Amino acid sequence: MAPLILLLFLLSEAASDLIVETVPGHDVILPCQADDSSIKAVKWSRPDLKPDIVLLYRDGHLNKYDQNPSFKDRVELVDRDLKDGDVSLILKNVKSNYTGIYKCGVKTGDTDLIRVIRTVRLQVTEPDLTVVTVPGDDVILPCRADDSSIRAVEWTRPDLKPDIVLYYRAGRLNTTDQHPSYKGRVELVDRDLKDGDVSSILKNVNKHDAGTYNCRVITGDTDPIRIIRTIYLQVPDLVVETVPGDNATLPCQADDSSIRAVEWTRPDLEPDIVLLYSDGHLETDTSIHPLRTGWSWWTEI
Ligand SMILES: *[C@@H]1O[C@H](CO)[C@@H](O)[C@H](O)[C@H]1NC(C)=O
Ligand SMILES: *[C@@H]1O[C@H](CO)[C@@H](O)[C@H](O)[C@H]1NC(C)=O
Ligand SMILES: *[C@@H]1O[C@H](CO)[C@@H](O)[C@H](O)[C@H]1NC(C)=O
Repeated sequence: MAPLILLLFLLSEAASDLIVETVPGHDVILPCQADDSSIKAVKWSRPDLKPDIVLLYRDGHLNKYDQNPSFKDRVELVDRDLKDGDVSLILKNVKSNYTGIYKCGVKTGDTDLIRVIRTVRLQVTEPDLTVVTVPGDDVILPCRADDSSIRAVEWTRPDLKPDIVLYYRAGRLNTTDQHPSYKGRVELVDRDLKDGDVSSILKNVNKHDAGTYNCRVITGDTDPIRIIRTIYLQVPDLVVETVPGDNATLPCQADDSSIRAVEWTRPDLEPDIVLLYSDGHLETDTSIHPLRTGWSWWTEI
């Protein structure tokens, strides 16, 4: 019996390993799909932690008692109805230390066992640089290689498939495996790569361009490709500029007027809420970031 169990274990260990990459402060989905829809329980775990439970969902409820405290209020299922076997996990406002291997397990109809059906590796990388732009603009993603004998340049977005944004080799751009959304919109700033300049320019930016970009080069003949810079491109709807000491207004308009609560957050802070307005008054409890003291709230009637 033991060898059979070991074999099953190995098989389940090997099940489609997926890598999800993001930067701190974002919500991220770890996809997982069960082929059986009669799911009795879902368990997401991180075997390197104690307790290892990231999320445990059983009989229509999240079990918070056995959960690792680091994930309290930071995890949710994409769909609590588990429609069509979707047991994907949402991790909210991820930190660098969310980097790790997550196992997705389900218990289905006829067995007591929670069976691991997928392993997902989450990589949360602090970008070397954050670039902010607005939709419609052109933006330069700066990158310089210290070695000038560059054989190939590659810009990638690890969250896309295919992940190639730009690929340049032997004096020309190669668009064969380029992600379709970047076709005709991306170019090197200097095709001569003078002084190791491998910056790229992205034209007519849209909201879907927001994400992590890796600047990679191949130099010497036998050298492997190496990441020399990670840039996070932020594409907010609006950029408000101000100077220290001034008041700034961040405009926001809801199309429904029956608003019961308003929340402003800054995902890079902990806690992330900067303003919470509900039932006619501002909340000021400790779950709100101390920045709140600088915030006011007004309505136009
Ligand atoms: C990550 O670090 C924070 C402190 O900054 C800690 O509270 C939390 O438990 C850690 N989470 C994990 C998953 O290690
Ligand atoms: C472009 O790259 C692909 C592989 O990504 C390769 O098969 C093809 O030969 C390249 N085309 C040119 C013109 O170099
Ligand atoms: C900022 O707003 C406060 C409160 O409304 C007001 O008292 C202050 O004069 C304003 N400061 C500037 C620089 O406009």
